[in-house]
Amino acid sequence: MNRERHHTLLFLLFVVGFHSSVAIRFNPPPEPLRFREAPQFYNSPNCPAPLHPTSNATCSPTALVHVAMTLDVEYLRGSMAAILSVLQHTSCPQSVQFHFVASTSLPYLNSTISSSFPYLSFRIYHFDDSLVSGLISTSIRAALDRPLNYARSYLAQILPDGCPSRVVYLDSDLLLVDDIRHLASTSLFESETVLAAPEYCNANFTFYFTSNFWSNPVLSMTFEGRKACYFNTGVMVIDLDRWRKGGYTEKIEKWMELQKKLRIYELGSLPPFLLVFAGKIANVDHKWNQHGLGGDNFQGLCRNLHPGPVSLLHWSGKGKPWARLDAGRLCPLDSLWVPYDLLESTFANSIS
Ligand SMILES: *[C@@H]1O[C@H](CO)[C@@H](O)[C@H](O)[C@H]1NC(C)=O
Ligand SMILES: *[C@@H]1O[C@H](CO)[C@@H](O)[C@H](O)[C@H]1NC(C)=O
Ligand SMILES: *[C@@H]1O[C@H](CO)[C@@H](O)[C@H](O)[C@H]1NC(C)=O
Repeated sequence: MNRERHHTLLFLLFVVGFHSSVAIRFNPPPEPLRFREAPQFYNSPNCPAPLHPTSNATCSPTALVHVAMTLDVEYLRGSMAAILSVLQHTSCPQSVQFHFVASTSLPYLNSTISSSFPYLSFRIYHFDDSLVSGLISTSIRAALDRPLNYARSYLAQILPDGCPSRVVYLDSDLLLVDDIRHLASTSLFESETVLAAPEYCNANFTFYFTSNFWSNPVLSMTFEGRKACYFNTGVMVIDLDRWRKGGYTEKIEKWMELQKKLRIYELGSLPPFLLVFAGKIANVDHKWNQHGLGGDNFQGLCRNLHPGPVSLLHWSGKGKPWARLDAGRLCPLDSLWVPYDLLESTFANSIS
């Protein structure tokens, strides 16, 4: 008995000791990445007058497209490539205004965007992680649990009321290869439609929610009378005025609160969007979200394009093209991302 207790104690000491040594061996902060300057892009003759380049933009009613994206140090390389791809493929690049949302490192992000895109009209808005951190339940992949991942549900609160009234929300792991004006002008038809996204009605909806959800007679009624289809929240056209009027942030929060009590899904920020909006959105052509190029959520295997045209490539899933590039394990489609990489290579640094 005593000996057993002794062993248990030793074991506990070992566990405690192990944990504290992990806690002490913290990672040094990564070197801030350096990016090169993107080329300047000019409006075509039939575009409105260019927006004034500024890193402190107030929302301009004359912008043709308002883009909302999150920014953080970890995914910055992806965001930079995404911004470049938007500017490169639109006919009116000087009439696109960017609204970035960031929770940390704002001065670094601000100066990085300013120096790589000196002709951009943008503003960085602060997102307070504590708005949502109490509502996050752990999911199948840690990257999905970052508070900033949930900022898309708070755009109507973060961006000023009245302008922009419509934004195109974009993830950081994608590239546009077509004019964002076409995506931005997606019709939201009926007056109560709040968002548009590519829908996938062949996806098995059962899969996105747990048996806790489907076995509960009240909860499982959620999609009754709706033609609920899966959609991805990485590419969305959102009417912020209608969003505010309908109180959709609160509706999403209600589901997140329930998830804390009764695990009803396994993914991160996506399922609450499905619960609130599936079957009530406007459809966007699938070419605007050639998704899944990052592979699945576990191994990040290489994937192919879906059949049909391509306006946007989305590396959703675990594998990211910049990580595979650094690891020397590019998937065939990743080579399409490489020309948009603005990272200053260490080789370029050493010869400059
Ligand atoms: C940025 O713009 C806001 C108003 O939109 C203004 O109050 C603030 O002083 C500006 N900051 C700088 C540094 O120009
Ligand atoms: C970014 O830099 C500009 C110019 O210095 C400044 O006006 C603006 O307030 C900064 N934004 C943030 C979020 O720090
Ligand atoms: C959908 O998925 C559920 C659970 O994964 C499965 O039981 C069901 O058979 C699937 N339905 C179809 C039509 O494939």
